[in-house]
Amino acid sequence: MYDFDRKLDQRGFDEKWDAPRYPTAEDKPLIPMWVADMDFAVPDCVLNAIRARLDHPAFGYSDPDPRFAQSIIAWMKERHGVTDIRPEMIRYQNSALGGVVAALKTLTRPGDPVLIQFPNYNGFTHAISDAGRRLVGSPLIQDGEGVFRVDLADMEKRILEENIRCFLFCAPHNPTGRVWTREEIQQVCALCEKYGVSIISDEVWADFVFAPARHVSPTQVSDYAHENTITICGASKTFNLAGLHTSYSVVYNDELRRRFHKWSAESYCDDPNTLSIAALIGAYTEGHRYVDELVAYIRQNMELACGFIQREVPGVRSGLPEGTYTMWLDFTGTGRSQAENIRRLGDQGLVLSPGKDYHGEGWFRMNVACPRAQLEQALQALKAAMA
Ligand SMILES: Cc1ncc(COP(=O)(O)O)c(C=O)c1O
Repeated sequence: MYDFDRKLDQRGFDEKWDAPRYPTAEDKPLIPMWVADMDFAVPDCVLNAIRARLDHPAFGYSDPDPRFAQSIIAWMKERHGVTDIRPEMIRYQNSALGGVVAALKTLTRPGDPVLIQFPNYNGFTHAISDAGRRLVGSPLIQDGEGVFRVDLADMEKRILEENIRCFLFCAPHNPTGRVWTREEIQQVCALCEKYGVSIISDEVWADFVFAPARHVSPTQVSDYAHENTITICGASKTFNLAGLHTSYSVVYNDELRRRFHKWSAESYCDDPNTLSIAALIGAYTEGHRYVDELVAYIRQNMELACGFIQREVPGVRSGLPEGTYTMWLDFTGTGRSQAENIRRLGDQGLVLSPGKDYHGEGWFRMNVACPRAQLEQALQALKAAMA
């Protein structure tokens, strides 16, 4: 069993601890629950793979070790039931967002609109505008149970009104923690097919899914999506390797792939990093048990947090996510402004991600990928902040 209760001192090693999103009281211990890094040690299978690579003192330009593609193909088959990826369809991307930007450049021209869903991962907002494209948001809607659902009618309206050619999909969804069902994904892909909209599918959270929910890639639900999607995946979230840049893309269609790889090469985001390649091979070859135990631990953290908030923190509402390690918390019931809530949280040393960064004013995102004792400390601080 991995010891996820063990505290890892991240100060000096992670911006989550070193550069909190907003100021906190100096007389309180810092409890950073914001940026999507985990407070768990990287497993030995990754460390050993890096160490083994270090033993060979050659670090010049090189193509990825063929085991890179083989281990991705095996991982996708075993964990997600995807059996039709071939090595040439895979390309290293030194960050998921680098791949997203190359995909945006492949599918759109400067000034073109790009459809996403609100609330959205804040990196998408920056990536789209930095690439000189225009963000068009279709708000997710909550059903009677508080579950976020795709608003197909709204998406269709925006596709028509804005003449959308490109949809940037986040599956599973950051920040809400939704894991879209096959049926929902089929509906979204059918809409894209109807209007000839190409898809960028960001699946970096695919490994964080709680049964019975199951991650389904758009590429697996229709022939159209299979041929018109640029998929971005990675080991960075799953194994806490964001600083190593351990991402990759998968594109099935030959012509789309040729165009996408040209843009990846021109933005230099596909230059392989020798140690990242080694890390991914180690992770995907021997990391299955680690991920199984990690996902179970995070699920328990979410259950604990959800129950606590429902019982102890009036004004804040929390549903139980189906995936990711982020919880999307509704603070609108506090009747206070986001700024005031930030001040109160900061006074208790607690740092969450303010919802306004995600087009979700009034909400906060809480990252629960941390030892249980830290989560309990965070929940007590949240209670005190909202008292
Ligand atoms: C949906 C999504 N895509 C991309 C990223 C960023 O990945 P990278 O650091 O590899 O660019 C994140 C980080 O949290 C994310 O949540």
